[in-house]
Amino acid sequence: MIVSGTMEQALTPTADPAWLLRETGYELLRESTFETRFAISNGFLGVRGGLATHLGACRAVPPRTYVAGLFDTPTPDSAVPELVPAADWLEVRILLPDGPLMRHPDRASRGLTLDLKRGVLLAESRQTSNAPLDVRVRSLRLVSLDARAVGMQMIELDIETGVSDLTLEATFGPTDFELAPERAELDLRAWRTWRSARSLAIAAAAALQVDGMERQPTERGDLTWSWTWTASPGQVVSFQRIVAVTRHHSLDVHSGSRARKELAAARALGWRGLIARHEAAWAERWRSSDVRIEGDTAAQAALRFAAYHLNGAVNPADPHVSVAARALTGDDYRGHVFWDTEIFLLPFYSLTWPEAARALLMYRFRTLPAARAKAAAMGWRGALYAWESADTGAEVTPEQTVGPDRKILDILCGSQEQHISADVAYGVWQYWQATEDEAFLREAGAEIILETARFWASRAALEPDGLRHIRTVIGPDEYHEGVDDNAYTNGMARWTIARGLEVAALLQERWPETWACLSQRLGLDGPELGQWQEAGRTIATGFDPVTGLFEQFGGFSTLEDVDLKAYAGRSVPMDVVLGRERTQRTQVIKQADVVALLVLLPETFPDGTGVTNFDHYEPRCGHGSSLSRAMHGLAAARLGRAETALRYFHQSAAIDLADTHVAIGGGIHIAALGGLWLTAIFGFAGLSLRPDGVAFDPHLPAAWRSLEFRVQWRGRQLSVTLDQATQGLRVSLESGPPLTVFVGGIKHAVSGAAPLRLEGVGG
Ligand code: BGC
Repeated sequence: MIVSGTMEQALTPTADPAWLLRETGYELLRESTFETRFAISNGFLGVRGGLATHLGACRAVPPRTYVAGLFDTPTPDSAVPELVPAADWLEVRILLPDGPLMRHPDRASRGLTLDLKRGVLLAESRQTSNAPLDVRVRSLRLVSLDARAVGMQMIELDIETGVSDLTLEATFGPTDFELAPERAELDLRAWRTWRSARSLAIAAAAALQVDGMERQPTERGDLTWSWTWTASPGQVVSFQRIVAVTRHHSLDVHSGSRARKELAAARALGWRGLIARHEAAWAERWRSSDVRIEGDTAAQAALRFAAYHLNGAVNPADPHVSVAARALTGDDYRGHVFWDTEIFLLPFYSLTWPEAARALLMYRFRTLPAARAKAAAMGWRGALYAWESADTGAEVTPEQTVGPDRKILDILCGSQEQHISADVAYGVWQYWQATEDEAFLREAGAEIILETARFWASRAALEPDGLRHIRTVIGPDEYHEGVDDNAYTNGMARWTIARGLEVAALLQERWPETWACLSQRLGLDGPELGQWQEAGRTIATGFDPVTGLFEQFGGFSTLEDVDLKAYAGRSVPMDVVLGRERTQRTQVIKQADVVALLVLLPETFPDGTGVTNFDHYEPRCGHGSSLSRAMHGLAAARLGRAETALRYFHQSAAIDLADTHVAIGGGIHIAALGGLWLTAIFGFAGLSLRPDGVAFDPHLPAAWRSLEFRVQWRGRQLSVTLDQATQGLRVSLESGPPLTVFVGGIKHAVSGAAPLRLEGVGG
């Protein structure tokens, strides 16, 4: 390894504070929140921003490193797998001869800085009283965005006053409760999961320099190191540890060799090379996905924070995993994947990182057999995706939970929340619209759409009234269970069937051989497609042409209408205020439902009824889900209500960024973060993807002087700027062939040489 000297640079945060998230001081009860907010992740490894052990303070929660896809069931009879945390590879103890150095840390001096630009977490603290040494301790940690198996930790001790022997011990936290030890060697340890036959290996190397001179460890054990030396004023001590983590889907006796290879490659780069490549990978991500706002510092910070976590949540090289509801930042929801991914996150990836979007959809393709099995087990055809999905795609929604009143509650989402099967199809189609990735459509996407269309055609039963009904479901509004004809579910089901027919026609026309193979393999013939056509036309919509309203489900309008304004000051969700049973008898909605349909399928709302429905359902929504405000913000922005949208935008941002809202110890709310990006791009800029180009319908909030971002569309890179003063829109084509851009229904040809510059379009 390279000796210290330039550590200073590595430990110095980016100069522009707009790229930094900072906290100072220490409060035990807020630590868990910090750990979530300051998490680092590369889509394979996720590490919470836990307090470094060397501060000697007690911990509120154990440190956590998550490895994507490392699932196991907690007990032999449990059907609900959860992400198993890996050994804490950051554990360090700094000891005086008679105990920890940080016996009396100066807690006020503790500082945490998440450098969003560089993708590193920096920490700082001081020991200045009641000890023989005054020491400043600074540290850096990262999980490499360039080599995802690799994590790195650096610690620097600046000895300010005093002379004493000092020991630095670098160890690994225990995991034997969650994982069974398999191998323990000097540079490598391997474990297996107790029940799911997965294996995990960690190879590691560590080094310490005192005043630039490398020291051999005084003691050495399996993945543990200890150095003892005499500290004196002016001394600079540097410690670095590099780990390489690998996960295997079977119990593989060679599981350590890949970890060792990854470690050797990282060591060959040296820590400076490793940081340089990691930062270059982040620079590339920011080049594609940074959103710049002038005039609203809080919104700028929120969008950077959102893009930071979104970029860190995926691994484009791994189609075995998807993004969980809390990404790789916390225990809540056990690492399970929901509709959050396709509806709230995928557009960000499709338009800024298509390779990542493709990997997420390939996860759905890989889990298609489990979705088919679920549909068949429930007596339907095609594919019904799991409401909560882990590694195999089998349904893993827990069947019961403990309610706020400490009573056991049944959870029906696993059997009834079926709109997921349309949401996945929606994600596939949107990715196709954004990328025209033919290989993906032919190899995977078409099959997902056809099998989900087939599910809906079999699911919607024809009844004597001549309509097809989808009974006994849960829509996005989970306060109401076992409902019939949920407007969102039925609308998305009709849409999925229509896309199934469109995909079938597209394959027949453009790739007849692909169609011949696929239709034969799926046993899909003309009569069945005819039946889809009929089903797509006759599924009940719940739309009332007189009022212009979609009824959220059959009988919704007859339920008690509760005035939510009367509960404005509440600090708990409405279902807790009213109780579960009463809530079910009211029109109180957990989250955007008809409003979500309006966002996803605005064309299903005849003239002007979008506003009618928004105005009807918005006041009935209690926002009991973290997804809700983002969806309302997006809907409001698309309706041109920029100030309402901005209010929702800031409320959504506050979920993870302000301590005044729900506790976030269980992990970041990645869907809400995706929703911020959606509100900015699809909402305020009013982006729409069309078969023949892209369209903009800008509505900038008054406080935003400008909004600037990049998106990729079908092999092109576009840079977009909205300007408040001129109500202007500028679209530049940075790479790729010319395209058509629609603004206010008017077509504009845009090429590299001829950007689009319009004024007076932002109203
Ligand atoms: C929401 C769901 C969401 C899940 C995971 C629930 O509270 O109601 O819509 O998918 O959380 O984020």
